[in-house]
Amino acid sequence: MIFLTGASGQLGSAILERLLELVPANTIAALDRNESRAKKLEQKGIHVFIGDYADKASLLHALKGVEKLLLVSSNSEDALTEHKNVIDAAKEIGVKHIYYTGGASDRNVKQSQLGPLTDAYITTEKYIVESGLTYTIFQNGLYSETIPFFVGEQVLETGISFPAGDGKATFAKRSEMGEAIANVMISDGHENKIYLLTGQPNYSFAEIAEILSELSGRNVTYHSPDSIAFEAQLKEYGIQESDIQFSTLFAAIIKNEEYDVKGSDLEQLLGREPTDLRAYLKETFLA
Ligand SMILES: NC(=O)c1ccc[n+]([C@@H]2O[C@H](COP(=O)([O-])OP(=O)(O)OC[C@H]3O[C@@H](n4cnc5c(N)ncnc54)[C@H](OP(=O)(O)O)[C@@H]3O)[C@@H](O)[C@H]2O)c1
Repeated sequence: MIFLTGASGQLGSAILERLLELVPANTIAALDRNESRAKKLEQKGIHVFIGDYADKASLLHALKGVEKLLLVSSNSEDALTEHKNVIDAAKEIGVKHIYYTGGASDRNVKQSQLGPLTDAYITTEKYIVESGLTYTIFQNGLYSETIPFFVGEQVLETGISFPAGDGKATFAKRSEMGEAIANVMISDGHENKIYLLTGQPNYSFAEIAEILSELSGRNVTYHSPDSIAFEAQLKEYGIQESDIQFSTLFAAIIKNEEYDVKGSDLEQLLGREPTDLRAYLKETFLA
């Protein structure tokens, strides 16, 4: 049995979609903490358990007989404790192989803008490696799909205003990361490996504006305001507080070059060339 956490989430649903093409639905199970989302997942023919990373008893119940477990990282303040709960439960109940998706952040960055979450991602990897479980770890770059969220759908008219300075980051399509993870989960040879699910080369937002200008024939400008002015601007547009925080946080991470990571295993795991950022921008903003 293959068991997924986060299967209703954005990455998890991409993984599930690909798995459903590769193996029978009745060999897949999932965890969800929301009853109505669980029902939607069940309509795909998979078995769903209600549970939470924070509730170890629910995990021990759900993971009985599971061979392969995917842990999608949490982004709560207690992420590390939650991840440890899942890993401990997996070990206790006899899961054979744990797959974990976390972040590809540059381990040399001293002062992460992501705060305790960076530490949670890195410490989780260490905890898994030291758990004695067979593991495969995916270090994910930033999703290309975050770009429209940061720059706005009318970017060709408005230009880009985003406080990421000259920082570069790696971007890859979430759907392709999901596809690659599913491919790995159903094949052998990935025991105790760590893979980078990133796109190469890395780009700054000034370069993204340049590409959009070339593709559209318009002058797409890039301006990096200070973060306080940026937040005030988004508030004025009526953007909700959680979205403002998300954008400001990611801009700070990119400016700090935390995701300016080199190298990628995505092509190898996909079995084809991933969509590069230029092609992604074209299909997203010029289709
Ligand atoms: N690479 C990037 O650009 C990027 C961007 C944002 C986040 N991330 C990280 O990557 C992870 C996956 O990304 P995503 O876009 O798929 O996020 P997402 O859509 O928020 O999905 C996360 C999934 O994990 C589940 N989950 C989280 N905590 C849980 C808990 N305590 N118990 C049970 N389920 C729990 C969520 O369930 P609920 O819906 O019930 O919360 C959701 O199904 C995020 O959680 C975050 O750590 C990466």
